Amino acid sequence: MNGHPSRDGWYTAGELDCFPVPPPRERPSRLVLLGAPGAGKGTQARLLCESLRACHLSTGDLFRAARDQCASSPAMRAAIEAMNRGELVPEELVIRMVRERASCLRCQGGFVLDGFPRNQRQAYALDEILADLNVALEAVVYLELPLEEIIARLSGRRTCVECRAVFHVSSNPPSRSDICDYCDGRLEQRTDDQPDAIRVRMQVFDAETLALVEFYERLGKLVRISARGTPEQIRDRVLQALDRNVSEITT
Ligand code: AP5
Repeated sequence: MNGHPSRDGWYTAGELDCFPVPPPRERPSRLVLLGAPGAGKGTQARLLCESLRACHLSTGDLFRAARDQCASSPAMRAAIEAMNRGELVPEELVIRMVRERASCLRCQGGFVLDGFPRNQRQAYALDEILADLNVALEAVVYLELPLEEIIARLSGRRTCVECRAVFHVSSNPPSRSDICDYCDGRLEQRTDDQPDAIRVRMQVFDAETLALVEFYERLGKLVRISARGTPEQIRDRVLQALDRNVSEITT
């Protein structure tokens, strides 16, 4: 526990309730974060969720949790192998997992979806799920960062095996080497942060995910944000852009 909701509902597909249960909001934030691997989606999801009191829903975290618990179904094993190579996990599995967690998408606290959708088919699936829930997406935030900075961010990243908090060896080091500041968990380098897997992930982003920028731009949902600067500067940029969006819609 680190001051954020436990996300039990997300990890257990609704079998457990989150703690604490998010209080209702008059206007819950419902956002998607889009960006290349290492652009800072997880970092911003965490900061934005603190500001907006929404819940961070990451599909990557779901697969890493399944791997850490030695998930034994053949479908999940194949998914984890694909993830370790830097490839997308099979479409049907991801969409099914998000569908099974639809209750998180209509949570009264709102959400920041990180890592889904990742291609056109997933974007259509998300549209369908949200339409079934009668829930509207507020915006899709696209974090833009040049390749050299992406490589530096990924190669120095360390992640907590317990609470999934993200650190960086130079730009955001933990206070004690390899120990999480929030839960004392062990920090590790992700398997897919090795050079070969990073190369594959960047290719997959260019081939599959980048097209969603135009897709959401056409729908009037896209908010482009420069992901340069400190995490707090980027968060403030996002919050200001979202505020501007709301006032454009309501005036
Ligand atoms: P996922 O976990 O979603 O990985 P990703 O998209 O590759 O993104 P990352 O988590 O690598 O980076 P990030 O943008 O979150 O950056 P972070 O904040 O950590 O997915 C992993 C895998 O799961 C996929 O490859 C795929 O196999 C599978 N998968 C997941 N969803 C799927 C889907 N929908 N369909 C199919 N397969 C799916 O930051 C990176 C580093 O930079 C950190 O060390 C951080 O501390 C540092 N940093 C962040 N911001 C700053 C800053 N402003 N200044 C300096 N350093 C910073």
